Amino acid sequence: VAAALKGLRNRLLARPTVALCARWPAQRALRTMRRVNGIQLSAAELRVIARVLKRRVPCRLLVFGCGNDAAFWLRVNARGRTEFIEDDAAWAQECMRRNPGMVVHLVSYDSQRSQWRALLHGPAEDLAMTLPESIAATRWDAILVDAPAGWSDATPGRMKSIFTACRLAAAGADVFVHDCDREVERAFCDRFFTPRQRVTEVGRLRHYRTD
Ligand SMILES: C[S@@+](CC[C@H](N)C(=O)[O-])C[C@H]1O[C@@H](n2cnc3c(N)ncnc32)[C@H](O)[C@@H]1O
Repeated sequence: VAAALKGLRNRLLARPTVALCARWPAQRALRTMRRVNGIQLSAAELRVIARVLKRRVPCRLLVFGCGNDAAFWLRVNARGRTEFIEDDAAWAQECMRRNPGMVVHLVSYDSQRSQWRALLHGPAEDLAMTLPESIAATRWDAILVDAPAGWSDATPGRMKSIFTACRLAAAGADVFVHDCDREVERAFCDRFFTPRQRVTEVGRLRHYRTD
């Protein structure tokens, strides 16, 4: 009964908390919003991104990875262009079902995290990925990299998504990379962004602003 009540409460609060936080991304409200929506980014990390985005909207926002935070980014940038890159077809379908009108591009990374050292020291061209023309032809104002999976050597790893974020970012864009407590994310951020471009690091999130 307790679990059912909690589920019901979360469902009731999910959308109103997204709407509230998209207007006022305050830490306490974000804590509730992430809990009831099952979001993985911490409240402090969400706050950094949301505050930066709110100064930019409407903007061109590209998100690597569909997650339970999708509804929030769509709402923050409601009058802008928000698109998602996803490598799990079934999960992409589910996210689009939950968020009608959401634009998700299905991609294949064709990499394994185990290759990260060779890719780090190899030519940048080896990190190129096939993207829809509408994505590749756009210079994005803000990019969030929280995919693909990179928690084991058997997962694709974020080598290509971090490289691609660097290439697709407009001049003066804000680029956020999550899971920078991990060696691979840190190494690829350090290769494709300069220390001068780093604005802040909060929790496991790095924020860069391009030149
Ligand atoms: C790390 S998650 C994104 C988390 C999101 N930014 C958040 O804070 O909640 C990114 C990847 O995990 C996978 N993923 C996330 N949630 C999932 C779910 N409930 N079921 C299946 N795959 C999921 C997707 O493939 C996605 O590209």
